[in-house]
Formats: sequence, structure tokens, C-alpha cells
Amino acid sequence: MSGVHIRVPAKINLHLGVGAAREDGFHPLATVYHAIGIHDDLIATPASRWRLETVTAAGIDPADVPAGKDNLVTRAARLLHAHLPGLHVRIEKAIPIAGGLAGGSADAAAALLALDLLAPGCPPRDLSLLAAELGSDIPFALVGGTAIGTGRGEVVAPVPDPHTWWWTVVPAAVGLSTPEVYRHFDRLHPDAPAVPAPADRVLAALATGDPRTLAAALHNDLQTAAVDLRPELATLLARGEAEGALRGLVSGSGPTCVFLCESRDAAVAVADAIGGSGPARVLVAAGPARGAHQVVGAP
Ligand code: C5P
Repeated sequence: MSGVHIRVPAKINLHLGVGAAREDGFHPLATVYHAIGIHDDLIATPASRWRLETVTAAGIDPADVPAGKDNLVTRAARLLHAHLPGLHVRIEKAIPIAGGLAGGSADAAAALLALDLLAPGCPPRDLSLLAAELGSDIPFALVGGTAIGTGRGEVVAPVPDPHTWWWTVVPAAVGLSTPEVYRHFDRLHPDAPAVPAPADRVLAALATGDPRTLAAALHNDLQTAAVDLRPELATLLARGEAEGALRGLVSGSGPTCVFLCESRDAAVAVADAIGGSGPARVLVAAGPARGAHQVVGAP
């Protein structure tokens, strides 16, 4: 095999229940992950030495890509590439960075899958365990679709989600640090319960196929903290709803805001209305989307 091409989706959280910080500093979660059709592509080719190259879509600043050991792809490669002399990894980034869409986690999941495919001779390993070691959101990026996440988010169980949901996705020009948002959550909610709010309402809404029912059930315990750190998000959320979205929600730890809409046309109309005068790069995406997978016939 000369190389592999992996495609991996962004995620949003339809429900994000957050409990009081555990002794290890992580917060217990009861979340419903939902993969949407905004993708990064990773192309990995065996080479004489390690090289990571990132190209970014319009609106994403390449300077925001974490360097060195902070790059999750580099860390994923360190875990797995012992059986390869070297590797050239090219990432084509369309998922906004530090946006609450788990773009870095997506790339790490893609790297784990690529390395696993490129070094088939080595002992079998459970990629989801390696993924969990690297980051809380990474096991979900391997699975995709819609799934319940528990533990610190790394314990993932797929749930049926047979309908298509349409989202307008509004990234911010400047990202938010996930640890900072969690720290602010701690400050704002010193009495947070040990057990996070359950996801039952969203799970029941998914089964109905009715976007209005799902809109009413969407929930994010990190939203207050993200909006407190970035007050302009409150204006954006209200604006999207005034333009016809059924509901606006901060995605994960933010600052990306997602708007659930009645249909694809409605999502495009909201994107056009917000994009006209607001942030540069408003996207429309459908969910659920497939988890990390090989693009057949490439490279
Ligand atoms: O697991 P990951 O490396 O993506 O987490 C990044 C940071 O987000 C953690 O270091 C922690 O500060 C915060 N976090 C948390 N509780 C979680 C997940 C992440 O506090 N369940």
C-alpha cells in the first residue's frame, strides 16, 4: 500500500451535561455527540522521515495549528509509528481550530486509523483505547454518527439516529481554550452536581425525527461559561434564532455556534443572513456523518 487517505468529521454536542470536577481534574460528562458534514482529510504516505504538513481552508489561520508535541497528530503518530521508518502526513483542514468542533481530535483519530492501515504487520490493538489515552473526544471521532459519551467523554456508545438534521455553523475568528472554559464553568458553578444532567430528552427527540422537538431538547452546560467569556456569542445566538433557526447552541466549549434549522434551505437562508454582515465563514452541514474512514481509491 503506497498511502492512505482518511476523512474525519467535526462533532457537535446535542446534549452536554457536565458534573463537578473529579479528583483528576476532568469533569464527568453525560453527552450526546453528533458528527456533522464538515471534514478534515488526512493523507499519509510512508517516507524516510517524519513530516507533518497542514493546509487550511479559507478562513482558518495556519498559525493556529498547534506545533510540536501539542499537535495531537504528532502525539498519535508517536504512539503508533514505531513500525514505520517515517511518514509524510498531509492534513487538509476544513474544521475550524479551537472552535468546540473537536477538529484536533478528529485529526488524531484520522492519524491513528491511517497508521493502523499502513502498518498491518504489528500486533492487533484497540484503537479506541489509544484514542482515549490521547484525548476525551477522540474515541467518538473514530465512531462518528450520533453517540452517547460518558466518563470524561471517552466512553462512547452509538445511538440510532436515522433522520437528517440541518445545521448552520458559525465559527468565531478567535478560538477558545477548552481548559479555560471548564475552569470558568467551575467558577460559575461551585455547586455543580457530581452526576451530570442526563441526556434522556435529546435521545427521545432524536427518535421523533422532528427538528422542533430536537431544538427544544438541545442542552449545553458549558454554554453559560463560553458566553460569559465571549459576551458577543449571546448576540449571535439571538440573531440566528431571529433569522429563522429553530435554536442556537454553543458547540461544546465554543466559541462556534450551531443553529438547528427546519431544512437544508432554511439552514442556507440563516447562513446567508448571518454571513452577510457577521463572521467570515458561515457553513451549512448535515448530521449525522460517518466517523473516520478511508476514502477508497485514493491517493
Ligand atoms: O481530553 P482532552 O485533552 O481533550 O481535554 C482537554 C482539557 O479539557 C482537559 O485538560 C481538561 O482541562 C478539560 N476537560 C475536562 N473534562 C472533560 C474533558 C476535558 O475538564 N471531561
